[in-house]
Amino acid sequence: MLPLILLPIFFGDTASVVVAGIVVIIMFKLILRFIRETRMQSINSSIATQSEAAPMSYSMSNHTKIEIEPIERFINNILKEKPVRFTPQNILDFTQNYAMKLGSGGYGVVYKGQFPNGIQVAVKVLNKTSGEKAEEQFMAEVGIMSRTYHINLVKLYGFCFDKSVKALVYEYMEKGSLDKYLYSQAQALEWEKLHVIATGTAKGIRYLHEECEQKIVHYDIKPANVLLTAELFPKAADFGLACLCDRKVSHGTPTGVRGTPGFAAPEMWTSVLPNKNEKCDVYSFGMLLFEILGRRKNLDFKQDNESREWFPQWVWNKFEQGEMESIISLCGVESKDRAKAERMCQVALWCIQYQPDARPSMTGVVRMLEGEQEIVPPVNPFYYISSTEADSKMVSTTDSSSSFNVKDNCETYSQSG
Ligand SMILES: Nc1ncnc2c1ncn2[C@@H]1O[C@H](COP(=O)(O)OP(=O)(O)OP(=O)(O)O)[C@@H](O)[C@H]1O
Ligand SMILES: [Mg+2]
Repeated sequence: MLPLILLPIFFGDTASVVVAGIVVIIMFKLILRFIRETRMQSINSSIATQSEAAPMSYSMSNHTKIEIEPIERFINNILKEKPVRFTPQNILDFTQNYAMKLGSGGYGVVYKGQFPNGIQVAVKVLNKTSGEKAEEQFMAEVGIMSRTYHINLVKLYGFCFDKSVKALVYEYMEKGSLDKYLYSQAQALEWEKLHVIATGTAKGIRYLHEECEQKIVHYDIKPANVLLTAELFPKAADFGLACLCDRKVSHGTPTGVRGTPGFAAPEMWTSVLPNKNEKCDVYSFGMLLFEILGRRKNLDFKQDNESREWFPQWVWNKFEQGEMESIISLCGVESKDRAKAERMCQVALWCIQYQPDARPSMTGVVRMLEGEQEIVPPVNPFYYISSTEADSKMVSTTDSSSSFNVKDNCETYSQSG
């Protein structure tokens, strides 16, 4: 390059100052660029060395290490609303080798678990026989379930589909299931709280039926499938499972139908009623309402009062005789909650109507429970029980192989539950 001191000889004074300035600026820029490039090269090579040496990992305990990669994918997939697919090893790690069992039901065993970032989860490991669906179909249905988002529904984080393990990973619900609180005096909840739990659950089911992208019928509404957060906020659990799994024999179901005896709608048990649709859930929700109202099992021979045996029938008898007062006092409802309890009682009677079309929609149920819709006095839900057969509560159908026996239906549950 031309030495700067020779410039005045060639260009004269002013011109040489300008040219010298330009040359200095160009040189300065070139030096800066060189420094920047050298620095980038060294950063890149250090990242490459790190990732070759070892994947980043979180230490959950002295023994268990879980790679961070599924969690990154997990967050990305949540953003894309995609269910996360975990490996059997992930499931093993999350549950610390299936260390803590939360309980079990018709679909499998539930374990407590934790993601590497500390988020607690509940992992439902499906029975070997219950996941016969092909991988694509399984994933499609899990996809629908995980795109289903409502504050009153337990969130599905992801799943595992493998020859050896089929599992669903859910948000963990600190207080467990509602049945614990209904059937135990020691953990009894205030009636006001129970009303909030009932309406919240109804809103979750309303969303499944009427508001989500693809209608989902739950087929197994019952207190064990209403889970509670630390603040006792309710969320319905296990929606979509009926579509995902073939639950052939469970809870003593004699005919292999879906649902749980005592809560399953009559159309699940008899072929005379048409269409198994979302009204099955309305029926089951009605049975759940009765258990909430009475803070007891619907069929409970241990009760030492006049409502012994089947609570819904007892409530109807009292209601028909205009003795709402007896219902309210037997349920221990304080006068401040009386109006809500009366509404709950009538909604329950509407929900368990024998004919599916006579039952309200879940939108109607929510509106009636919240006092936004006037309630027409319910009609007899047990009209189909002829007086001669009233004792056995048996109704014969035209199809002799499928008679519907309300009491037996409940007894199976009472014994199994
Ligand atoms: N997400 C969760 N968080 C905390 N506990 C849970 C969760 N899911 C289930 N459980 C607990 O695990 C137990 C078993 O649940 P599971 O759903 O397998 O059985 P179930 O509800 O009795 O019957 P079903 O198979 O008809 O749903 C329940 O007692 C429930 O309290
Ligand atoms: Mg359940």
